[in-house]
Amino acid sequence: MSKLWGGRFTKPTNKLVEEYTSSIGFDQKLALQDIKGSLAHVEMLGHCDIITDEEKNQIIKGLHTIQGKIENEEVEYSVADEDIHMNIEKLLIEEIGPVGGKLHTGRSRNDQVATDMHLYMREKTEELIQLVGAVQEALVSQAEGNVETILPGYTHLQRAQPISFGHHLLAYFWMFERDKERLQDSLKRINWSPLGAAALAGTPYDIDRQMTADILGFEKVYPNSLDAVSDRDFILEFLSISSILITHISRLSEELILWSSQEFNFIELDDEFCTGSSIMPQKKNPDVPELLRGKTGRIYGNLMGLLTLLKGLPLAYNKDMQEDKEGMFDTVDTLEGALSLLAPMLASMEVKKSEMKTAVKEDYSNATDIADYLAVKGMPFRRAHEVIGKIVLYAIEEGKYLLDLSIGEYQQFSELFEEDIYEKLAPEQVVAARNSEGGTGFKQVANQLELAKSHLYE
Ligand code: ARG
Repeated sequence: MSKLWGGRFTKPTNKLVEEYTSSIGFDQKLALQDIKGSLAHVEMLGHCDIITDEEKNQIIKGLHTIQGKIENEEVEYSVADEDIHMNIEKLLIEEIGPVGGKLHTGRSRNDQVATDMHLYMREKTEELIQLVGAVQEALVSQAEGNVETILPGYTHLQRAQPISFGHHLLAYFWMFERDKERLQDSLKRINWSPLGAAALAGTPYDIDRQMTADILGFEKVYPNSLDAVSDRDFILEFLSISSILITHISRLSEELILWSSQEFNFIELDDEFCTGSSIMPQKKNPDVPELLRGKTGRIYGNLMGLLTLLKGLPLAYNKDMQEDKEGMFDTVDTLEGALSLLAPMLASMEVKKSEMKTAVKEDYSNATDIADYLAVKGMPFRRAHEVIGKIVLYAIEEGKYLLDLSIGEYQQFSELFEEDIYEKLAPEQVVAARNSEGGTGFKQVANQLELAKSHLYE
């Protein structure tokens, strides 16, 4: 059979052009969505008496047969038929004869491809929401066992104040919670139906767009046919959300890498999630978080690619838009892989509680608390800050930590110091004291954990 659009042509397509313009190599991923869209369309054509019931039933039966063959991987796609839409239509006509040619009545590949992508994005968005949920679950389970585990908190990657490790993990929980919310929210816009916009202008047939939208589970129809076939902002939105999500994954990965280094020595990733070196026998490398961090580039690239692709395009469809798919597929695959690994890797990591605690004892991260101590006793905080700065300098010169200084040494700097300074400076006390809402105080973290859990299975 020749080209479905061959009527107007006198020469066959140049082979190189055929290959260059074909998208079947990647858009075959949309095969089942394409059939779903076609089934809804043909149902509507029958309902609106645009085709007879007999024709409708033949086409539906034919589409089901092809669907079965696709599911069993029995079909061979052809580059000559360009894309998934024409491949399936061709298969249909081969299967049921010329009546298969009635499927495309009142429709164009332009609304068809947009419909397929909306269906695909809905499925994948729902799946990704689940996968983000699994990462959150792993964070919650680790946080639960580490509410009272203390480690240094950092700013500028310099030890700042001791914090609860559970608190640190929950920080990521909330980032992922917002990612999940963004994905959820985007479904509102993914659930617009382009079907029936036809090539760009609508169709003279008396079609029922609401009916196909309902069958496909869309919430509304695009009110403008040009917009319906030209818009790819639902993909841009997905890529933007994905870029933010992979940023969070990357930052967490970076911390896992740092924490598992000998320098930090705060966690150990399970052997299952690490690899060795072909030359250095002692190595246990955090390849997985490194790759997760590295995958960020391609998702940002996919976002930039599509933004750039769309920015100068006049309405309505342009062939450029065929380039909208690979970045979308790649982003979905990349995120599925990343999230599926991140969850079990987090759940199985060993937290080195005593190493974390030792780290906290060997720094000056309780300095703020001595300043607060003096401030509570009436010294203006700014002045207290300076006094403590001097004490820290003195301690460093003496090769001591703040808890090692004697009360006499403290009193050289201020008469306000009394014995109770030592309990104020103990790391547990320093953390517990930060009981302001959302702070790292243990009570706050326990409350936060409950709140986090309540978001897990909504
Ligand atoms: N394969 C095409 C794409 O993905 C489908 C739409 C083609 N429409 C057209 N008028 N050439 O963009």
